[in-house]
Amino acid sequence: MARVLLENVSKVFDKQVTAVSDFRLEVADSEFMVIVGPSGSGKTTILRMIAGLEKVTSGNIYIGDTLVNDVPPRNRDIAMVFQNYALYPHMNVYENIAFGLKMRKFSKEEINRRVKKVSVLLGIEHLFTRKPKALSGGQRQRVAVGRAIVRSPKVFLFDEPLSNLDTGLRGATRAELKALHHKLQITSIYVTHDQTEAMTLGDRICVTYNGIIQQTASPIEIYERPINKFVAGFFGTPSMNFFAGRVKFQGDIPCFVTGNDTITLPRRLRTILADYSDKEMVMGIRPEDLSLCQFSNQAGNVISATVDIIEPLGSRADIYLTNNTGIKFITKADPHIEINVHEEVKVHIDSERIHIFEPGEAGKNITLSDGTLN
Ligand SMILES: Nc1ncnc2c1ncn2[C@@H]1O[C@H](COP(=O)(O)OP(=O)(O)O)[C@@H](O)[C@H]1O
Ligand SMILES: [Mg+2]
Repeated sequence: MARVLLENVSKVFDKQVTAVSDFRLEVADSEFMVIVGPSGSGKTTILRMIAGLEKVTSGNIYIGDTLVNDVPPRNRDIAMVFQNYALYPHMNVYENIAFGLKMRKFSKEEINRRVKKVSVLLGIEHLFTRKPKALSGGQRQRVAVGRAIVRSPKVFLFDEPLSNLDTGLRGATRAELKALHHKLQITSIYVTHDQTEAMTLGDRICVTYNGIIQQTASPIEIYERPINKFVAGFFGTPSMNFFAGRVKFQGDIPCFVTGNDTITLPRRLRTILADYSDKEMVMGIRPEDLSLCQFSNQAGNVISATVDIIEPLGSRADIYLTNNTGIKFITKADPHIEINVHEEVKVHIDSERIHIFEPGEAGKNITLSDGTLN
């Protein structure tokens, strides 16, 4: 087992496409690190550089204490599981799992012992004689994982390994991967575009966008203390609501004015917000931190809105709303709520949970610096 260290790693393709920019990431020994970001953010390129399938343009990659920049892939002691599994179609399951060991000249007995052991672990020993085409997606995925772990590598790399599975199976396999990591404790780097996978699997999450790391932190920290608007909007279902508006002061009380509504902000934000008085900013609030209050006339912490859509989800209902300046937003409500489309409502806002961002796609979260938002 080993830690993986990326020191200022960059990758430029054809001297013009910067796929990865100044990546700094330390994955601890036996940690499960998830790198998450939209398509095209450089995730696969990062994994390929760690595996040695792609050279770094600049920077250093260490596995354990060894600088591996010039170490060929086969000597890096890494196993990679891909999205399409890449099983050998002409070999049966046993042969697929055994192949890597055979190439490394393990004895027949040792191969047999190891293949059996991982197959029992993954529940695929009854499939030994089947060819990949006779397997379901979930079974193929397990064989691919089996082939990776049978070598007991120092590091596992996963490139969106669940994206070809249907929803139910994806959830179940995700839980199995987590249990497997718990058992084996092998340092793992897992790449996905799926925020739910990132949240549920990662000891820590590294959020990337356009080849640049936005934030690396625990799932809960990422959710509760997003460093910028991109990270804030990427996690959560439905995602965070954003309201354009201005920071104002009523005496020494900070407020946020959006449309015809003025929201009173916590006093603790006074000092930070003083620098932003009268500036155009963006207020962020998660759907669960808003609540419908049809009869409230409390000023200072309500937004007036009209109901567009009611989406019943069994355990809750998502209510889609538009405020009086046309900003669309969502709140989560009790599924039995009595409310109608087109109805005018007041939405209570938990002002302790408000984030204020600088404008722009990845505008900085300025409310973090007081240290108390959580
Ligand atoms: N071999 C390559 N040659 C040129 N551009 C590439 C190559 N591989 C990836 N890219 C570009 O690098 C960027 C990141 O790609 P990739 O690492 O595949 O992202 P992700 O896995 O996050 O979707 C994209 O803009 C992609 O087009
Ligand atoms: Mg990719």
